[in-house]
Amino acid sequence: MKVLAIETSCDETAVSILQITGNFHVPKIKILSNIVASQVKIHAPWGGVVPNLAKREHQKNLPLIFKKALKEAYLSLKNPKIDLIAVTSGPGLEPALWVGINFAQELAKKYNKPLLAVNHLEGHIMSVLLRKPRKILFPALALVVSGGHTELVLFKKPLEYRVIGQTLDDAAGEAFDKVARLLGLGYPGGPVIAKEAEKFSGSERNIKLPRPMINSKDYNFSFSGLKTAVLYKIRDLKEMTPDLKIEMAAEFQQAVIDVLIKKTIRLAKEYGVKTIILGGGVVANKELRRQMEDAVKNLKHKPVFLMPEMEFTGDNAAMIALAAYFRAMERKTPHIAGQVGDSQNIVADSNLKLQTFNRWQNRLEILF
Ligand code: KG4
Ligand code: ZN
Repeated sequence: MKVLAIETSCDETAVSILQITGNFHVPKIKILSNIVASQVKIHAPWGGVVPNLAKREHQKNLPLIFKKALKEAYLSLKNPKIDLIAVTSGPGLEPALWVGINFAQELAKKYNKPLLAVNHLEGHIMSVLLRKPRKILFPALALVVSGGHTELVLFKKPLEYRVIGQTLDDAAGEAFDKVARLLGLGYPGGPVIAKEAEKFSGSERNIKLPRPMINSKDYNFSFSGLKTAVLYKIRDLKEMTPDLKIEMAAEFQQAVIDVLIKKTIRLAKEYGVKTIILGGGVVANKELRRQMEDAVKNLKHKPVFLMPEMEFTGDNAAMIALAAYFRAMERKTPHIAGQVGDSQNIVADSNLKLQTFNRWQNRLEILF
């Protein structure tokens, strides 16, 4: 099956085409093209993503990225020979999401192909399967950490999610972005804070920041207080020297990592999960990757640990194509071409939830 996917939920315009064979549990994936155009430079002066600017850039870039993706996959514009089109319908910035949805709907109509809406967070979870054939053993647990989300998700069987914990205020990536702004390090915050933190060579840090909710009984998170704590520390310091900035970045990064690891490991133990998955932009953080891997290795019941390759940590359309493939296979459709119908009803939903998505998705899947 060839799946073409479009992703425009935030500040990356992305199109990918995958050729997928094999069975539902261990699909064989060939990435025919995977194009990501980042708008980071456009949003950087504003210190964050500006929704209407994102929309304008997606509108400008998407047709070009689409053509490039077809070309890279050696498919012709006249007859792209795609079996299924997929598009992110949420969560994300509504004006940005609509650009992808409108474009996908036009394509589906023009080429008479079925169209499937995909939850962006499900895409991040699937991203661990893109490069290597890997098997998810159930029950599985996913920690999705991005600019908009921090969620601990449990699934006892494929594609049925239960969100066990989430952030009550800022997402982990958002905290990185805000703290980077406070430290005058630029945007996006994750990579610059990580780079700064790497320079810390001391054995102990004098700056101490809180680990919000680390011992709370639930699995929720809160990062807004951590950001405020950084703000107060900066205020209290007479002068922000380069060394203090490095120390602050290192301590902040470690505070986020400590909370993420503690809650993930506790949940993994409580439910005896057989697989732990990480997904989302914050998983580009090398310290998080290293420390989480160590923590999982120390678990007695030795769950499988899956992280996306660095190229798939941030937003991309390959993960959306893969999620769409699973959704289509779930229905065991013998043939899916030519049934467009309901797909024209897809709407952007900035708050789309993993849990509610199933029900809504089922309506769409009447197609299959
Ligand atoms: O998944 P993603 O690309 O977009 C959303 O769905 O939000 O995640 C973007 C987030 C940003 O907040 C960015 O600062 C963060 O991921 N990020 C990182 C790193 N690289 C990107 N956070 C921590 N360390 C990094 N190395
Ligand atoms: Zn994302």
